[in-house]
Amino acid sequence: MTLLQMIDQIGIGKYAQNLVDIDETHAVAPESLTGASFYLLQLGVGIEAKISQMTQEIDAYRRVLSRFASGVTVVTAYRGQRADGVTVSAFSAVSLEPPLVLVCIGEESDCYELLARSEQFGINVLSAEQGPLALAFSQVGDAKTQALRIFPNLWIDESVPVLANCVAHLVCRHYAVHAGGDHRIVVGEVIDLRLHDLQAEPLLYFASKFRRLTPA
Ligand SMILES: Cc1cc2nc3c(=O)[nH]c(=O)nc-3n(C[C@H](O)[C@H](O)[C@H](O)COP(=O)(O)O)c2cc1C
Repeated sequence: MTLLQMIDQIGIGKYAQNLVDIDETHAVAPESLTGASFYLLQLGVGIEAKISQMTQEIDAYRRVLSRFASGVTVVTAYRGQRADGVTVSAFSAVSLEPPLVLVCIGEESDCYELLARSEQFGINVLSAEQGPLALAFSQVGDAKTQALRIFPNLWIDESVPVLANCVAHLVCRHYAVHAGGDHRIVVGEVIDLRLHDLQAEPLLYFASKFRRLTPA
């Protein structure tokens, strides 16, 4: 077996090849591994182990966070004449005086720039029946436009776009944007709000699935 085959078999070929140019013409038998090749092999195995450990840590982080049950919102703003929105579960009240709320938006989200730039944006609290709508607003670009086609009479026109049949909505004035790793924390000052239906049940999100309330 050549060194290259050995490295490939262990699954570190792509990392090792980035470090030195190893090919069949320079292949060596395992018994003739030099100190440098052996070091390289160990380094490759080390990198592989580190990546695997990081992946496991991220999975564990996601799994634990998913055990925090939340409601589901769609954060909306006008993009020119057109209403746009993005599904967001990372919503929280911040302050009563002044009345501030926050949403955490991925910096790669198309809607991030829109929300960061908009003077006003809406936060729509979804009802238990609006799971399909939450999924549609989590699509990107044309897929989102397509996915939203099946929902007739979706919007109520106000100073911000509001979703019909949601439980409640808040109208926020841009207050601040803070750094938050790969997300941005967008803070809004609530300048208007409406409870659409006191009896309506909220949509919940827990362990990567939509849920409904049941009495504890
Ligand atoms: C239930 C649910 C909750 C979500 N919560 C958030 C969130 O809190 N923040 C966020 O940035 N994205 C969240 N997303 C993902 C965005 O909706 C998704 O990235 C969307 O594609 C972004 O669309 P845009 O690129 O048009 O803005 C969530 C998605 C789902 C289905």
